[in-house]
Amino acid sequence: MESTLKRPTVVAITGASGSILGFQLVKFLLEMGEPVEFIISAHSYQVILEEMKLTLPTSNEQELTVLNHLQLEPDKYLPLLHCFSNKHIGAPPASGTHLTRGMVVIPCSMTTLGKIASGISDNLIVRAADVTLKERRKLIVVPRESPFNQIHLENMLRLHQAGGVILPPVLSFYQEAFHSLEGQISYTLGKVLDHLDLTTHNLFPRWGS
Ligand SMILES: Cc1cc2nc3c(=O)[nH]c(=O)nc-3n(C[C@H](O)[C@H](O)[C@H](O)COP(=O)(O)O)c2cc1C
Repeated sequence: MESTLKRPTVVAITGASGSILGFQLVKFLLEMGEPVEFIISAHSYQVILEEMKLTLPTSNEQELTVLNHLQLEPDKYLPLLHCFSNKHIGAPPASGTHLTRGMVVIPCSMTTLGKIASGISDNLIVRAADVTLKERRKLIVVPRESPFNQIHLENMLRLHQAGGVILPPVLSFYQEAFHSLEGQISYTLGKVLDHLDLTTHNLFPRWGS
């Protein structure tokens, strides 16, 4: 099976607004046949409930709930999806010996941004991000806050200087395909996939094509 040989992408959802971005990214990755290691922070559960009306189990049935929500057939996609508790500090993404394509924190709260930028690794998400940076793999952070204060901006600069990609969900207008919420989400997710070197998606029309 080719897919089992692929390096998984670590996708983390934190307690910022925009949980749908993380869920849709997981969907697109799985549909592309890319394995996903999925981590959801404790504070995200409340945001996911508020914004997506989705109650997630905290333990072993999480994969099935996620696949059902994304309307993906479990038979086909269950082998590609692994969910880990954010408390599980010894899970595979916590070690550099575990090979991954990279990691996306989407949406990224200012709390998690600050922790990553400061080298604080007290949960699986921030530990995996720390490992991604030290192994010089791709770390993409999708920060969500407005406006940014000086601390947020300094943390983003620090992360950028350490090798991370700061990719905010910024509104785009220059193609008609973006003129809907779905189009805006696709635009941001297409940019994330591009930065993961997964460029065969058609989430947006490329300029000049
Ligand atoms: C409904 C809701 C929306 C929130 N939106 C944001 C947000 O957009 N950005 C942000 O940085 N924090 C936001 N927060 C606050 C974070 O959840 C909080 O700072 C938390 O400590 C984040 O922890 P985590 O990064 O471990 O998930 C929101 C909280 C709630 C309840």
